[in-house]
Amino acid sequence: MSTTDASLGGAGSMSPFTYATRTQLLRPSIVREILKATESADVISFAGGLPAPELFPAAHIAALCHQILAEDPAGALQYGTTEGHRPLRQAVCDRISASTGLPCDACQVLITTGSQQALDLVARVLLDPGDTVLVEEPSYLGALQAFAASGANIVAVPGDERGMSPESLRRAIAEAAARPKLLYLLPTFHNPTGVTLDAGRRRELAEVAQAAGVPVLEDDPYGPLRYAGIPLPAVVSHVRSSAWIYLGTCSKVLSPGLRVGWLVTPEPELMKRLVAIKQAVDLHTASLNQRVVARFLQDAPAFEAHLQLLAGVYRARRDTMAAAIREHFPSDCAFTVPDGGLFLWVRLPHRFDVDRLFHLALERRVAFVPGSAFGQSARTRQGIRLNFSNADPGRIAGGIRRLGELLCECDGHGVRARPCGR
Ligand SMILES: Cc1ncc(COP(=O)(O)O)c(C=O)c1O
Repeated sequence: MSTTDASLGGAGSMSPFTYATRTQLLRPSIVREILKATESADVISFAGGLPAPELFPAAHIAALCHQILAEDPAGALQYGTTEGHRPLRQAVCDRISASTGLPCDACQVLITTGSQQALDLVARVLLDPGDTVLVEEPSYLGALQAFAASGANIVAVPGDERGMSPESLRRAIAEAAARPKLLYLLPTFHNPTGVTLDAGRRRELAEVAQAAGVPVLEDDPYGPLRYAGIPLPAVVSHVRSSAWIYLGTCSKVLSPGLRVGWLVTPEPELMKRLVAIKQAVDLHTASLNQRVVARFLQDAPAFEAHLQLLAGVYRARRDTMAAAIREHFPSDCAFTVPDGGLFLWVRLPHRFDVDRLFHLALERRVAFVPGSAFGQSARTRQGIRLNFSNADPGRIAGGIRRLGELLCECDGHGVRARPCGR
């Protein structure tokens, strides 16, 4: 499997359909392709962004479904409004206000079918072909796909180990041919790097964007999964206009299969257009699932207890992975231990060819996502994203040992003489 040339269609296609031009821009997600390659049980996969299935609150969800269907079968099984189930919109607001410092009203919330749908809706409403979107380098692949499908010109703004730098953002805005339509940020437990923007950078980036009239799109699926440190105000809480959008989801904290996410914006005109587009896409997000998530969020003590449970297990898995990397990887591999989220990002020295390493690792039945999936800078291409939530500590330790042995062999210290890299 190639990690770079997965575009759809092609001149040799025998399809009887004539496809819209915009589909030429679509690329199947490399991560999804990798997940397919890692389905076999003997592969230890650190590739997906999957929560631990044994921690899904299945019994609680079953009880809630039972209760909801007994109390309000018509509401749960009938068509609903496009904006979403009102009590869920309110519960989302209450949680966001408490955890991020964002003032929020329920009418500013749109319930979406996962936050991936929110990214797609935003792209459809705001982006014309050729419009510039500023993103971090590296950035979340699903967002890049959504922006690319609209024909946007995606400009990666360089950063450092602390995330996007305000100076680079200023420069990217100044160098853009026209005012960028969006600044897309993942400031908390970034996917793929795990980095959290500090309070100063949050404020500065918001100020730079605001001064240039660039709206900010903040994506925050991982914020509730914190294992150390204290929560920081949302970047968009520093934007003193209505030019912001904030995204959240239940995928990483309850279940991705429920497909319930949300978008918040204080701009009524934007909300109106997003609702109109969502109507055309899926009418509304599943009524029963929205009610399940609403009841979960409304029971704040139970929800907090669930988050604590996740934090305890994921913190231990993160620490197991970090300890195994220290023990088994060459000492010049750089990584930082994230304060939350699901990913550890390791930067390998330039003597390693990371794409080639990915294939060699799969031969050893261990998988990760190579940096080239997330961006094309030399720095990003030396990265590997390792998910620590989905495997138990024994498999984490075993998988990292296998990877470490491979790295050492590639370095010429092991049984395989031919070094990879260079
Ligand atoms: C940064 C980021 N945004 C959005 C999503 C989409 O999540 P969902 O559509 O499941 O809410 C993901 C999923 O991995 C993600 O990592």
